[in-house]
Amino acid sequence: MISNARLFVFISLLGISSAGNIKVSRHDVRKFPDSFVFGAATASYQIEGGWDEDGKSENIWDRLTHTEPCSIADCSNGDIADDSYHLYKRDVEMMRELGLDFYRFSLSWSRILPTSFPDKVNEAGIQYYNNLIDEMLKYNIEPMITLYHWDLPQKLQEMGGWSNPYIVDWFADYARIAFENFGDRVKYWITMNEPREVCYQGYGTVTKAPRLNIQGIAEYMCAKNLLMAHAKAYHIYNEEYRQSQNGVIGITLSAHWYYPETDADIEAAAEVIEFEWGQYAHPIFSEAGDFPPVMREKIAAKSAEQGFPRSRLPEFTPEEIDYVRGSSDFFGLNHYSTYIVYRNQSLNNYHNVPSYYDDMNAAPYQSSEWEHGASSFLKVVPDGFYRLLTDIREKYNNPPVYITENGYSTYGGLIDDDRIAYYRKYLSAMLDAMDEGSDVRGYAAWSIMDNFEWMQGYTERFGLYEVDYESPERTRTPRKSAFVYKQILRTRELDMHYEPDTNVMTIDEGK
Ligand code: BGC
Repeated sequence: MISNARLFVFISLLGISSAGNIKVSRHDVRKFPDSFVFGAATASYQIEGGWDEDGKSENIWDRLTHTEPCSIADCSNGDIADDSYHLYKRDVEMMRELGLDFYRFSLSWSRILPTSFPDKVNEAGIQYYNNLIDEMLKYNIEPMITLYHWDLPQKLQEMGGWSNPYIVDWFADYARIAFENFGDRVKYWITMNEPREVCYQGYGTVTKAPRLNIQGIAEYMCAKNLLMAHAKAYHIYNEEYRQSQNGVIGITLSAHWYYPETDADIEAAAEVIEFEWGQYAHPIFSEAGDFPPVMREKIAAKSAEQGFPRSRLPEFTPEEIDYVRGSSDFFGLNHYSTYIVYRNQSLNNYHNVPSYYDDMNAAPYQSSEWEHGASSFLKVVPDGFYRLLTDIREKYNNPPVYITENGYSTYGGLIDDDRIAYYRKYLSAMLDAMDEGSDVRGYAAWSIMDNFEWMQGYTERFGLYEVDYESPERTRTPRKSAFVYKQILRTRELDMHYEPDTNVMTIDEGK
């Protein structure tokens, strides 16, 4: 909770920081560059269903939802989800209705490699993705594939998952199978979706499978192995496939923005940024490579105080630093919201237990005054997006950026003016950063349709299309936001006031 005194200081800080918002009202119609591409995103476990069909084996989300169903808000699971395993043609039809340039989806490792390893490639799994890719290409919709969006084969988890260094080879073998089978037609590759959520939420706490809850230790082991696995897949593509397949490969990081609560918290906010997403961005995108210096120093010092013989944060060797540095052709960015950071004596209650936030020694929170969506974290602060993009440009020498996710949750309903307002404000903030030089090349809405929202099940809805989970056909119906997004894509303009004059979706010529 934000105290009144804090809120007051924060609002005065906003006096300096509301530049993004002021610009929004100055331009009612803004243009996107001609080369800019628009898409929408999904992930395998969230939409596919067919959880044990045609040879697919169990993954960590199957295991969690089947053994602890009510760890999920509505005790649901992804067994059927949006049934995209059978309804992919309808999915492509929706892409055509919206006029997407590209569609980002992820591969299910255990559908392609049921033993987790390449000793047995599941032809039915390969066929499913071939069908989807070919159907998209028929209509000039570019596939963008994420290799790993959280559904690790269960067997690999039993061997430690991302905390076992052998996963670097397991992931590399899987990546090679994907390049081999799909790389003739797929030119955009993303190795990992959101390492922070994989490692911190899955290994440090209990908010994502496998819910290990081994704070201050397991998430750091995961971070190093995941970065090495990413880099290995990058180098394989770079050395063995790039020349013949001619695509690009990068990583997608989740990043919030963090305002300091007061001037005294400026350093704390900068440090939170280094822990939260610098942890993954610095090793890949900075000139020096390696984990951010502030993380290395703080965790080493805490570890020593706590009686550990070495830092709980694993080290990279100089060769490993080189191997990871520069291993991404673009910065894939998922962004949803913003936090405020403070640091004071109340955080100095020294616990003998290792913990990520104790290592950071700062506290991020959100203002209860901010507008918000259905998800607890989703507060509407477009200026944070502008600042984040500016920071990425300034810190990492202006890398090409693809926004691989951005979107807003509701509890359902076809008239979603609040989602429309969110998209408009965030797209406008993105254009502000681009006006100042940020090299943002594309944008994907999360999501094309409602889907299994992890621990929230089907209670929170992110779709441009509503999905009816009561109907066996999983009927997809466009929301008002789908018509507004379509208009943005058709005109390549952001019109802050456009009102759709129809609720009948059609496919435009050429798509
Ligand atoms: C994830 C998605 C998720 C979305 C909304 C991102 O963290 O990549 O899988 O559904 O946020 O919470």
